[in-house]
Order: sequence, then C-alpha cells, then structure tokens
Amino acid sequence: MRTMAAVGFHAYGGPDAVRLVEVPVPEPGPGEVRVRVRMTTVNPADVQYRRGDHAAFVPDALPPFVGGLELVGTVDAVGEGVDLLPGATVAGSSHFIPGGRGSHAELVVTGAGAVAPCPAGVDEVALATVPMNGLTARVVLDTLALPPGATVVVTGAAGAVGGYVVELASAAGLEVVAVASSTDEELVVGLGATAFVPRGDDVAQEVRARHPDGVDAVVDAAMLDAAALPMVRDGGRLLTLRPGHVPPPERGIEPRLVSFRRYQDRPDVLADLLALSASGGLTTRVAEVLTPHRGAEAHALAETPGLRGRVVLAFDA
Ligand SMILES: NC(=O)c1ccc[n+]([C@@H]2O[C@H](COP(=O)([O-])OP(=O)(O)OC[C@H]3O[C@@H](n4cnc5c(N)ncnc54)[C@H](OP(=O)(O)O)[C@@H]3O)[C@@H](O)[C@H]2O)c1
Repeated sequence: MRTMAAVGFHAYGGPDAVRLVEVPVPEPGPGEVRVRVRMTTVNPADVQYRRGDHAAFVPDALPPFVGGLELVGTVDAVGEGVDLLPGATVAGSSHFIPGGRGSHAELVVTGAGAVAPCPAGVDEVALATVPMNGLTARVVLDTLALPPGATVVVTGAAGAVGGYVVELASAAGLEVVAVASSTDEELVVGLGATAFVPRGDDVAQEVRARHPDGVDAVVDAAMLDAAALPMVRDGGRLLTLRPGHVPPPERGIEPRLVSFRRYQDRPDVLADLLALSASGGLTTRVAEVLTPHRGAEAHALAETPGLRGRVVLAFDA
C-alpha cells in the first residue's frame, strides 16, 4: 500500500496532539480528482476537529485524523468522467467529514467540481485562503439576497469569513455595519464597511441606537448567538455558521445555519471568487506559512485570539 505524509492527530486534544503522520494514498473515484497539495490552510474548523468537536460527524473514520478544507495544488489523477487534465494547477475545497481525512496531506481526493483552475500569476499562498471561506461568504450573500441599500450587520468582521462577507456585501451595494475589535476598525472600513461598532456586551444596544427598527440582517460569524437577535428588525434575517449556534425564532425572524457545502460543487462560483481575488476585489490575508513538520505550531497559532490572516501549511517547501 502506498502511503504519504500528512499533518494529523491520533487522538483529539490540544495543538500538541498534531504531528506528521503517514496515511494511505487516497484513490479518486468516479467524479473525483486527486490533487498534489502545495498550500493548505488551517481554519477554525480544523481546530474544532482536532479538539473533537466534529467526532459525531466522522463516526467511521479511523485515526490518524487529518484536517484541511482548502488547498492549492496540481491535479495528480482523475476518476471516471472527469475532464480535468493532470498537471493543471487548481484551488479548491475538500472535507474531512465524513471520511476523516482532508487536505493537510501530500495528496487529497475531492469532488472534481470542488476545484477550479488558478488564475495565472497569482500568489498560490493567497489563493489557498479563498475557496472555503470565499464560498461561505458567497452562500451567505446569495441566501440573504438583499436588495442594494439594505443594511447588514457582520459580527466577526475582521475574520476570514467576516472580511469576505463585508467585501462582497459592500460590492453588492449593501450598507455594512461591521462588528469587530477597535483595533480592526481601519481594516473593516477599508474592506467596505459603511459603519463600525466595537465588539462588546452592548453591541445590540449600539446597533439599535443607530437603527431603531433593527437591521435587515445579521451575519453572525462571531457566534454571538441569541445576543445577535435584538439587532434584527421584525421579520429580518439572521444567518449563523455553526451547528449548535442557531437561536430560536422570534418576531418573524427564522435564524438559519448556512454552509459552504451548498456551493462545494460549483466550480463556476469558485472560479469567479478566484478571479475576484486576482483582480483585488477580494482581499486575502495570510498570517504565516509553515512547513508540515510545524503542524502543532500551526494549530497553536491558528487558535490564538487576535490572529489576523490565515495560517497556511506549505507541502512543497
Ligand atoms: N458553515 C460553514 O460552512 C463555515 C465556513 C467557514 C467558517 N465557519 C465558521 O465560521 C466562524 C468564523 O470563521 P472565520 O474563519 O471567519 O474565523 P476567524 O478568522 O477566526 O474570525 C472570527 C473573528 O471573530 C472575532 N470575534 C470573536 N468574538 C467576537 C465578538 N464577541 N465580537 C466580534 N468579533 C468577535 C475574532 O476575533 P479574535 O481573533 O480577536 O477572537 C475573529 O476576528 C467559525 O466558527 C468557523 O468555524 C463555518
């Protein structure tokens, strides 16, 4: 059996659980592609997976577990019915749910529709931060489908998803109220926020003081949960990004969980996001690029509050 190196963990735990592991090389099935990974990001979901938060979603997976949802690499092999050419440079998303193994590896298998060609001449490290979080932001905007001029509050606006939502919402003509740390005001205003509210216990009062009837929608990327509801007008929208963080309905507001997986098989949407990033319309941020043998450090850094930009693992270094 052929094996490969991956960044993973044999048991759930802290960053110290993370190490270089050896796992079987995955084979692409019909409609799938195998990518030789060059860059792959460490997202909050990878940290959650390592802590054991997603154990129920990978009931049949065997250790070592390997996270990883976003990647840039080279098409290495294709399954039946796939017309991508081996050797093409692509960016895309994968998932460790339900199989237990994602893109923190030399090779990853994902759906052929989950990857799109990388625009030429663009930094691959930056592009690796686009697929999953960019698709999430696009799902958010398309789910809300608000008309230009509507007002949306984005909590966690300085984060990866929040930042992309601010930028895409602003480009769609929405009024964006960004909630983030005071030190991030310049950043989120630069991304297109038209108003800023510093994070804290009185965010909802502050938003209501400026919008007495409440705002049209809240995108809760900071998991304020029920504390986010008072900002929303009667009959407005609240979107959250994690299971277990959906507050109960009230005043005609039906809070809803959204996932990037709605667009995981939409290479056209992904290609648009990659092109937008290449043209400067989607601002990518990278905190650090580390080699796979520094996986534990990458996880520790990724879960450090106040980190801005994504941690990237470079398998080609
Ligand atoms: N459903 C999906 O498909 C999907 C996809 C992507 C992400 N997600 C989830 O969405 C969430 C956000 O992801 P992300 O990648 O954007 O995370 P991120 O980059 O870590 O950003 C989260 C941001 O929220 C800030 N924050 C924390 N508490 C806050 C508060 N009370 N008020 C305002 N801001 C606050 C954080 O600041 P500090 O760093 O200072 O704490 C950080 O800037 C995560 O829970 C992730 O798992 C879900």
